[in-house]
Amino acid sequence: MTRRLRNVLFYGSASALFILLALSLTPITSPLPPYVGDYEVGVLDIETEVERRLVHDAVLKETGEKAFELHTLAITLYYPSALSTLPSQPWARPWLPQPISLIGTGYARLMRIRSPPLQSVITFFLWAFGSKTVIPGVVDAPVLSPINSTDSEAGLGKVVIEMAEGKVGLRLETGMGRLPAVVFTHGMAGMSQSYSHYLGSIASHGYIVAAVEHRDGSGPGTIVHYPGGGERAVWHMTLDDLETDPPMNTSDLKIAQLNFREAEIRETIRLFEHMNRGTKLRNLKPESPESPKSAIPGFKDRLNMSAVTVAGHSYGATGALKALKNAPSEQMPLNGAIALDPGKGSGPLNDEIEVPTLVIQSGEWTEKQVEFYGQGWHFDVVRELVEKTKMGWFMTLGGSAHPSCTDAPLIVPWIMKLATGTTLNGRIALREYIGASVDFLGYLRHGEKKGLLKSEISSPAGPLGDAGKREKIKGSAGADWEVHVVPEA
Ligand SMILES: *[C@@H]1O[C@H](CO)[C@@H](O)[C@H](O)[C@H]1NC(C)=O
Ligand SMILES: *[C@@H]1O[C@H](CO)[C@@H](O)[C@H](O)[C@H]1NC(C)=O
Ligand SMILES: *[C@@H]1O[C@H](CO)[C@@H](O)[C@H](O)[C@H]1NC(C)=O
Repeated sequence: MTRRLRNVLFYGSASALFILLALSLTPITSPLPPYVGDYEVGVLDIETEVERRLVHDAVLKETGEKAFELHTLAITLYYPSALSTLPSQPWARPWLPQPISLIGTGYARLMRIRSPPLQSVITFFLWAFGSKTVIPGVVDAPVLSPINSTDSEAGLGKVVIEMAEGKVGLRLETGMGRLPAVVFTHGMAGMSQSYSHYLGSIASHGYIVAAVEHRDGSGPGTIVHYPGGGERAVWHMTLDDLETDPPMNTSDLKIAQLNFREAEIRETIRLFEHMNRGTKLRNLKPESPESPKSAIPGFKDRLNMSAVTVAGHSYGATGALKALKNAPSEQMPLNGAIALDPGKGSGPLNDEIEVPTLVIQSGEWTEKQVEFYGQGWHFDVVRELVEKTKMGWFMTLGGSAHPSCTDAPLIVPWIMKLATGTTLNGRIALREYIGASVDFLGYLRHGEKKGLLKSEISSPAGPLGDAGKREKIKGSAGADWEVHVVPEA
C-alpha cells in the first residue's frame, strides 16, 4: 500500500468516525418546543368539499387540467384543548406532510429539478432533517370545555348554578364560551404546518387557528382529495407550466393566485360557520379521524364569529391585506389583520383598510429596501398604508430575518443562522412575534392596549431616516423593536 493511500484511509476513516460522533452528540435537528400559552393544543387536518368554482381559466400544460379550480379546502386546525394525552391517539402529527416524497418532489420542482433521481435526493434530505419532527399537540383532542376554564381573558364561559323546579343544575351563561378565531395564510413555498409553533402558541392562548394549505400553486406540493374519490397533486406552478389565451404574464399569475387564496380564506370562514352551527362535515383527509369520532362536532356553538381575524406571512400577508378590501362585510366578516413581512414582489398592497391592522416586519425585511411597483420604497409604502388606516401598528423586530416566524429556526437553528445571518436567538424571536400578535388579538376583543401596543412611535422612518432617530423598545422577551406607526389618538 502506498503511503498516500494509507493516509487517505487513515484520515478518511478518522474523519468519518469524528463526523459520526459529532452527529450522535449534536442532533442535526431540534424538536419543536412546547407552546407558550396556558392551554394544551389540539391539532387536526381538515379537508372539506366546497362549492366548485373556477377562479381563472388557465390550464396546466403537463396534464391539461384546470390550474385554478377550487374544489376542496384544506386546513390545519390548532385549538385550545383540555387534554394533553389521549390513550386512543398515541402519536402526534408529523411535521412533514405524508408522504414525504410529495414534498420532496415538490421542493425539487420548485428548484426546477425535474429528474426523478435528483428529486429522490431532496426527499432524502427532507427525511433526514424533518422525519423525526412532530407538531406538539394531540391530534383531534377535544376542544377546551367552556366549563373547564375560568379565564375570562380567553373569552371562555362562566358556569351558573341555577335552581329550577327544585332541581339544581349547571348552566353555561348565555353567549359565553365562544372562542375567537384566526385564519392564517402561508408564504411562497410554504405549507400549512410551516408555522406550527407560532400558530399553536396563539391557539394555546385560547384561539381557534386555521392554517390554510393553499392550492394556488405557490406551495411545494399538496394533494386534493375529491369527494367522489380520486385525487390530484397540485405542484408549484410557474408561467411556463400554464397555457392561457391570451398568455399570462407574471402579474396576471400573481393576481390569479391571490384571488384563489382569497376564495380559500372565505371558505375557511365558511367552514368556521359550519363547525359553529354543528353542520355534519365529511373530512376528506385520508389520515384524519372519521367525522363521528372526531373533535369537530365539539365546535358547535364554540366559535365567536364576530371575532375572526386574518393573518399571513409574506405572500400570505399580501393576501391578508387584500382580503381586508372587502371587510368587514357579510362576505368577509373580519375584525382585523396581522401582516408579517408583507410581500415585496407579490403585487401592489391593498390600502383600502377599515379594521385595525398590525404589520410586523423582520429586521431583514425592513433593512433591505426595494423600490415597490413605482410607489417608492417598500418601507414607505407599508408605513403610509398603516398610517392611512388611522388604527394600525407598524413595527420591526430587530435582528430577525424573513423566515424567523416559521418553524425553521426551531428545527434547524444553525442552518437558519448561517443562511440568514440573524443576530436574535430564534426562540426569542418567536416569543416576541407571538407576544405582539396575542396582545393585538386581545386588543381587537377588548380594546385594551398591552405591552408593545402601549408604546409610542420610536423610529418614524426606520432605515430611511436618521440613524439617531431609531430608538429601540424592549419587547416581552427582551428583544429590540422599532415602532414606526401607532393608531391615532
Ligand atoms: C376539565 O379538564 C380536565 C382535564 O384537564 C378533565 O379531567 C375534567 O373532566 C374537565 N372538567 C370538566 C368540568 O369538563
Ligand atoms: C400583464 O398583462 C396584463 C393584461 O393581461 C396587462 O394589463 C399588464 O400591464 C401586464 N403587466 C406587465 C407587467 O406586463
Ligand atoms: C365575540 O367577540 C366580540 C368582539 O370581540 C365581543 O364583543 C363579544 O363579547 C364576543 N362574544 C362572546 C360570546 O364571547
